[in-house]
Amino acid sequence: MKLGKKVIVITGSGAGIGRASALGFAQEGASVIVADINLVAATKTVDLITAAGGTALPVQTDVSDPESVQKLVKQTLSTYLQVDVLVNNAAVQVNKTAEDTSFEEWNRQLAVNLGGVFLCSKYFLPLLRKTKGCIINMSSVNGFFVEPTCAGYCATKAAIIGLTKAMAIDHGREGVRVNCICPGYIDAGLAEGYFQSQADPVKARADAGKLHALGRIGNPGEVGRAAIFLASDDASFITGAALVVDGGFGSGFPPQ
Ligand SMILES: NC(=O)c1ccc[n+]([C@@H]2O[C@H](COP(=O)([O-])OP(=O)(O)OC[C@H]3O[C@@H](n4cnc5c(N)ncnc54)[C@H](O)[C@@H]3O)[C@@H](O)[C@H]2O)c1
Repeated sequence: MKLGKKVIVITGSGAGIGRASALGFAQEGASVIVADINLVAATKTVDLITAAGGTALPVQTDVSDPESVQKLVKQTLSTYLQVDVLVNNAAVQVNKTAEDTSFEEWNRQLAVNLGGVFLCSKYFLPLLRKTKGCIINMSSVNGFFVEPTCAGYCATKAAIIGLTKAMAIDHGREGVRVNCICPGYIDAGLAEGYFQSQADPVKARADAGKLHALGRIGNPGEVGRAAIFLASDDASFITGAALVVDGGFGSGFPPQ
Protein backbone atom coordinates (compact mmCIF):
# COMPACT_ATOMS: atom_id res chain seq x y z
CA MET A 1 0.00 0.00 0.00
CA LYS A 2 1.49 3.27 -1.17
CA LEU A 3 -0.61 5.61 0.98
CA GLY A 4 -1.33 3.88 4.29
CA LYS A 5 -2.72 6.28 6.92
CA LYS A 6 -2.80 9.27 4.56
CA VAL A 7 -5.93 11.40 4.43
CA ILE A 8 -6.99 12.53 0.96
CA VAL A 9 -9.62 15.12 0.01
CA ILE A 10 -10.92 14.78 -3.56
CA THR A 11 -13.37 17.32 -4.92
CA GLY A 12 -15.87 16.29 -7.57
CA SER A 13 -15.44 12.66 -6.51
CA GLY A 14 -19.10 11.75 -6.88
CA ALA A 15 -18.50 10.72 -10.50
CA GLY A 16 -16.01 10.10 -13.29
CA ILE A 17 -12.30 10.69 -12.72
CA GLY A 18 -12.87 11.88 -9.13
CA ARG A 19 -14.77 8.71 -8.19
CA ALA A 20 -12.21 6.41 -9.85
CA SER A 21 -9.40 8.30 -8.08
CA ALA A 22 -11.22 8.01 -4.74
CA LEU A 23 -11.57 4.25 -5.21
CA GLY A 24 -7.90 3.97 -6.18
CA PHE A 25 -6.65 6.03 -3.23
CA ALA A 26 -8.79 3.96 -0.83
CA GLN A 27 -7.39 0.76 -2.31
CA GLU A 28 -3.91 2.07 -1.50
CA GLY A 29 -4.93 2.40 2.16
CA ALA A 30 -5.83 6.10 2.34
CA SER A 31 -8.88 7.55 4.06
CA VAL A 32 -10.81 9.55 1.47
CA ILE A 33 -13.05 12.58 1.88
CA VAL A 34 -15.46 12.48 -1.04
CA ALA A 35 -16.40 16.15 -1.55
CA ASP A 36 -19.04 16.79 -4.19
CA ILE A 37 -21.88 19.24 -4.74
CA ASN A 38 -24.09 16.18 -5.30
CA LEU A 39 -24.44 14.41 -1.94
CA VAL A 40 -26.24 11.38 -3.42
CA ALA A 41 -23.36 10.84 -5.86
CA ALA A 42 -20.75 11.36 -3.10
CA THR A 43 -22.52 8.85 -0.88
CA LYS A 44 -22.56 6.32 -3.73
CA THR A 45 -18.76 6.68 -4.07
CA VAL A 46 -18.37 6.16 -0.32
CA ASP A 47 -20.60 3.06 -0.47
CA LEU A 48 -18.39 1.62 -3.23
CA ILE A 49 -15.25 2.31 -1.18
CA THR A 50 -16.76 0.83 1.99
CA ALA A 51 -17.94 -2.27 0.12
CA ALA A 52 -14.35 -2.79 -1.04
CA GLY A 53 -13.10 -2.56 2.56
CA GLY A 54 -11.92 1.06 2.46
CA THR A 55 -12.59 4.15 4.58
CA ALA A 56 -14.32 7.27 3.27
CA LEU A 57 -16.60 10.14 4.25
CA PRO A 58 -19.04 12.00 1.97
CA VAL A 59 -19.19 15.79 2.39
CA GLN A 60 -21.56 17.92 0.33
CA THR A 61 -19.39 20.78 -0.93
CA ASP A 62 -19.68 23.53 -3.51
CA VAL A 63 -16.04 24.35 -4.31
CA SER A 64 -17.05 27.76 -5.67
CA ASP A 65 -18.45 28.84 -2.27
CA PRO A 66 -15.92 29.95 0.40
CA GLU A 67 -18.27 29.05 3.28
CA SER A 68 -18.88 25.58 1.88
CA VAL A 69 -15.14 24.98 1.46
CA GLN A 70 -14.44 26.16 5.02
CA LYS A 71 -17.11 23.73 6.28
CA LEU A 72 -15.36 20.95 4.31
CA VAL A 73 -12.07 21.80 6.05
CA LYS A 74 -13.76 21.73 9.48
CA GLN A 75 -15.54 18.44 8.81
CA THR A 76 -12.35 16.85 7.50
CA LEU A 77 -10.38 17.95 10.55
CA SER A 78 -13.01 16.88 13.05
CA THR A 79 -13.16 13.38 11.51
CA TYR A 80 -9.56 12.66 10.53
CA LEU A 81 -7.50 15.34 12.40
CA GLN A 82 -5.14 15.89 9.45
CA VAL A 83 -4.97 16.22 5.66
CA ASP A 84 -2.12 14.90 3.50
CA VAL A 85 -3.37 15.34 -0.07
CA LEU A 86 -5.86 17.66 -1.76
CA VAL A 87 -7.04 16.69 -5.24
CA ASN A 88 -8.79 19.65 -6.89
CA ASN A 89 -10.83 17.79 -9.49
CA ALA A 90 -14.33 19.33 -9.60
CA ALA A 91 -15.20 21.13 -12.82
CA VAL A 92 -18.02 22.05 -15.16
CA GLN A 93 -17.83 22.49 -18.93
CA VAL A 94 -19.97 24.69 -21.17
CA ASN A 95 -19.70 23.48 -24.76
CA LYS A 96 -19.97 26.84 -26.54
CA THR A 97 -17.86 29.45 -28.29
CA ALA A 98 -17.01 32.58 -26.31
CA GLU A 99 -19.60 34.50 -28.33
CA ASP A 100 -22.39 32.03 -27.49
CA THR A 101 -21.43 31.68 -23.81
CA SER A 102 -23.63 33.72 -21.45
CA PHE A 103 -22.02 35.87 -18.76
CA GLU A 104 -23.52 33.53 -16.13
CA GLU A 105 -22.05 30.44 -17.84
CA TRP A 106 -18.64 32.15 -18.10
CA ASN A 107 -18.69 33.12 -14.43
CA ARG A 108 -19.80 29.67 -13.29
CA GLN A 109 -16.94 27.94 -15.14
CA LEU A 110 -14.42 30.38 -13.68
CA ALA A 111 -15.88 30.05 -10.18
CA VAL A 112 -15.95 26.23 -10.12
CA ASN A 113 -12.96 25.25 -12.26
CA LEU A 114 -10.46 27.94 -11.26
CA GLY A 115 -12.07 29.49 -8.17
CA GLY A 116 -12.54 26.00 -6.71
CA VAL A 117 -8.81 25.26 -7.03
CA PHE A 118 -8.02 28.60 -5.42
CA LEU A 119 -10.50 28.30 -2.51
CA CYS A 120 -9.74 24.67 -1.61
CA SER A 121 -5.98 25.27 -1.82
CA LYS A 122 -6.24 28.48 0.23
CA TYR A 123 -8.20 26.87 3.07
CA PHE A 124 -6.40 23.49 3.11
CA LEU A 125 -2.85 24.89 2.86
CA PRO A 126 -2.43 25.51 6.62
CA LEU A 127 -3.17 21.81 7.18
CA LEU A 128 -1.05 20.59 4.27
CA ARG A 129 1.89 22.63 5.58
CA LYS A 130 1.67 20.67 8.86
CA THR A 131 1.81 17.26 7.14
CA LYS A 132 4.18 18.38 4.33
CA GLY A 133 1.45 17.24 2.04
CA CYS A 134 0.63 17.93 -1.57
CA ILE A 135 -1.94 19.38 -3.95
CA ILE A 136 -2.93 17.80 -7.26
CA ASN A 137 -4.98 19.96 -9.61
CA MET A 138 -6.97 18.48 -12.50
CA SER A 139 -6.17 20.45 -15.63
CA SER A 140 -6.51 18.99 -19.15
CA VAL A 141 -4.72 18.72 -22.46
CA ASN A 142 -7.07 21.60 -23.23
CA GLY A 143 -4.67 23.67 -21.12
CA PHE A 144 -2.18 23.26 -24.02
CA PHE A 145 -4.23 22.35 -27.11
CA VAL A 146 -7.59 23.98 -27.49
CA GLU A 147 -10.60 22.49 -29.26
CA PRO A 148 -13.70 24.06 -30.83
CA THR A 149 -16.73 25.14 -28.80
CA CYS A 150 -15.42 25.03 -25.25
CA ALA A 151 -13.67 28.41 -25.00
CA GLY A 152 -14.30 29.20 -21.33
CA TYR A 153 -13.44 25.66 -20.23
CA CYS A 154 -10.11 25.74 -22.15
CA ALA A 155 -9.30 29.11 -20.55
CA THR A 156 -9.81 27.72 -17.04
CA LYS A 157 -7.70 24.63 -17.74
CA ALA A 158 -4.79 26.74 -19.05
CA ALA A 159 -5.06 28.99 -15.99
CA ILE A 160 -4.88 25.98 -13.66
CA ILE A 161 -1.44 25.10 -15.09
CA GLY A 162 -0.24 28.62 -14.30
CA LEU A 163 -1.75 28.57 -10.81
CA THR A 164 -0.17 25.16 -10.15
CA LYS A 165 3.31 26.47 -11.00
CA ALA A 166 2.78 29.66 -8.96
CA MET A 167 1.67 27.70 -5.89
CA ALA A 168 4.57 25.25 -6.31
CA ILE A 169 7.01 28.18 -6.10
CA ASP A 170 5.25 29.77 -3.13
CA HIS A 171 4.97 26.62 -1.02
CA GLY A 172 7.88 24.41 -2.07
CA ARG A 173 10.12 25.55 0.78
CA GLU A 174 7.32 24.78 3.20
CA GLY A 175 7.48 21.16 2.04
CA VAL A 176 4.21 21.28 0.08
CA ARG A 177 4.35 19.95 -3.50
CA VAL A 178 1.82 21.22 -6.05
CA ASN A 179 1.33 19.48 -9.41
CA CYS A 180 -1.38 19.14 -12.02
CA ILE A 181 -2.55 16.38 -14.33
CA CYS A 182 -3.51 17.02 -17.94
CA PRO A 183 -5.69 14.16 -19.17
CA GLY A 184 -6.70 13.58 -22.77
CA TYR A 185 -10.26 12.48 -23.50
CA ILE A 186 -11.46 10.27 -20.64
CA ASP A 187 -14.64 8.21 -20.60
CA ALA A 188 -16.36 10.34 -17.94
CA GLY A 189 -18.99 13.05 -17.53
CA LEU A 190 -17.38 16.10 -19.12
CA ALA A 191 -16.27 14.26 -22.27
CA GLU A 192 -19.72 12.68 -22.55
CA GLY A 193 -21.29 16.15 -22.31
CA TYR A 194 -18.99 17.33 -25.09
CA PHE A 195 -19.91 14.38 -27.33
CA GLN A 196 -23.61 14.99 -26.69
CA SER A 197 -23.22 18.66 -27.69
CA GLN A 198 -21.98 17.66 -31.16
CA ALA A 199 -24.30 17.01 -34.13
CA ASP A 200 -23.43 13.27 -34.14
CA PRO A 201 -22.37 12.17 -30.62
CA VAL A 202 -21.44 8.62 -31.68
CA LYS A 203 -19.15 9.93 -34.42
CA ALA A 204 -17.74 12.59 -32.05
CA ARG A 205 -16.77 9.86 -29.55
CA ALA A 206 -15.17 7.71 -32.28
CA ASP A 207 -13.31 10.72 -33.71
CA ALA A 208 -12.03 11.63 -30.24
CA GLY A 209 -10.40 8.22 -29.93
CA LYS A 210 -8.55 8.81 -33.19
CA LEU A 211 -6.99 12.00 -31.78
CA HIS A 212 -4.89 9.86 -29.42
CA ALA A 213 -1.79 7.94 -30.51
CA LEU A 214 -3.19 4.89 -28.69
CA GLY A 215 -6.31 5.11 -30.84
CA ARG A 216 -8.77 5.28 -27.96
CA ILE A 217 -9.97 7.53 -25.18
CA GLY A 218 -8.80 6.82 -21.65
CA ASN A 219 -10.67 5.45 -18.67
CA PRO A 220 -11.02 7.31 -15.35
CA GLY A 221 -8.85 4.83 -13.42
CA GLU A 222 -5.90 5.59 -15.72
CA VAL A 223 -5.97 9.19 -14.46
CA GLY A 224 -6.53 8.07 -10.87
CA ARG A 225 -3.32 6.03 -10.97
CA ALA A 226 -1.36 9.12 -12.06
CA ALA A 227 -2.84 11.02 -9.11
CA ILE A 228 -1.81 8.22 -6.74
CA PHE A 229 1.74 8.39 -8.12
CA LEU A 230 1.93 12.18 -7.63
CA ALA A 231 0.58 11.81 -4.08
CA SER A 232 3.06 9.08 -3.16
CA ASP A 233 6.63 9.34 -1.90
CA ASP A 234 7.72 8.06 -5.35
CA ALA A 235 7.03 11.63 -6.53
CA SER A 236 8.94 13.32 -3.69
CA PHE A 237 11.06 15.48 -6.06
CA ILE A 238 8.23 16.42 -8.41
CA THR A 239 6.57 19.81 -8.01
CA GLY A 240 5.24 22.45 -10.40
CA ALA A 241 4.75 19.76 -13.05
CA ALA A 242 1.94 19.35 -15.56
CA LEU A 243 1.80 15.56 -15.95
CA VAL A 244 0.24 14.66 -19.28
CA VAL A 245 -1.92 11.49 -19.19
CA ASP A 246 -3.30 11.62 -22.69
CA GLY A 247 -2.61 8.42 -24.66
CA GLY A 248 -0.50 10.48 -27.03
CA PHE A 249 -3.07 13.22 -27.75
CA GLY A 250 -0.25 15.75 -27.92
CA SER A 251 1.98 13.57 -30.09
CA GLY A 252 1.11 15.45 -33.26
CA PHE A 253 -0.60 12.38 -34.81
CA PRO A 254 -3.25 13.55 -37.27
CA PRO A 255 -6.73 12.02 -36.76
CA GLN A 256 -6.84 8.69 -38.65
N1 LIG B 1 -13.54 13.59 -18.96
C1 LIG B 1 -12.54 14.06 -19.68
O1 LIG B 1 -12.36 13.74 -20.88
C2 LIG B 1 -11.54 15.00 -19.06
C3 LIG B 1 -10.39 15.34 -19.81
C4 LIG B 1 -9.46 16.21 -19.27
C5 LIG B 1 -9.65 16.73 -17.99
N2 LIG B 1 -10.75 16.37 -17.28
C6 LIG B 1 -10.89 16.96 -15.95
O2 LIG B 1 -11.14 15.94 -15.00
C7 LIG B 1 -12.01 16.44 -13.98
C8 LIG B 1 -13.20 15.52 -13.83
O3 LIG B 1 -13.89 15.40 -15.07
P1 LIG B 1 -15.00 14.26 -15.29
O4 LIG B 1 -15.19 14.13 -16.75
O5 LIG B 1 -14.68 13.09 -14.44
O6 LIG B 1 -16.28 15.02 -14.69
P2 LIG B 1 -17.71 14.45 -14.22
O7 LIG B 1 -18.72 15.41 -14.76
O8 LIG B 1 -17.85 13.01 -14.51
O9 LIG B 1 -17.62 14.64 -12.63
C9 LIG B 1 -17.48 15.92 -12.08
C10 LIG B 1 -17.97 15.89 -10.64
O10 LIG B 1 -17.80 17.22 -10.12
C11 LIG B 1 -18.94 17.56 -9.37
N3 LIG B 1 -19.08 19.02 -9.28
C12 LIG B 1 -19.51 19.87 -10.25
N4 LIG B 1 -19.54 21.13 -9.77
C13 LIG B 1 -19.10 21.07 -8.49
C14 LIG B 1 -18.92 22.05 -7.48
N5 LIG B 1 -19.22 23.34 -7.68
N6 LIG B 1 -18.42 21.64 -6.28
C15 LIG B 1 -18.15 20.32 -6.06
N7 LIG B 1 -18.34 19.36 -6.97
C16 LIG B 1 -18.80 19.72 -8.17
C17 LIG B 1 -20.09 16.88 -10.09
O11 LIG B 1 -21.25 16.73 -9.25
C18 LIG B 1 -19.47 15.56 -10.52
O12 LIG B 1 -19.67 14.56 -9.54
C19 LIG B 1 -12.36 17.87 -14.38
O13 LIG B 1 -11.49 18.76 -13.72
C20 LIG B 1 -12.10 17.89 -15.87
O14 LIG B 1 -11.80 19.18 -16.34
C21 LIG B 1 -11.71 15.54 -17.79
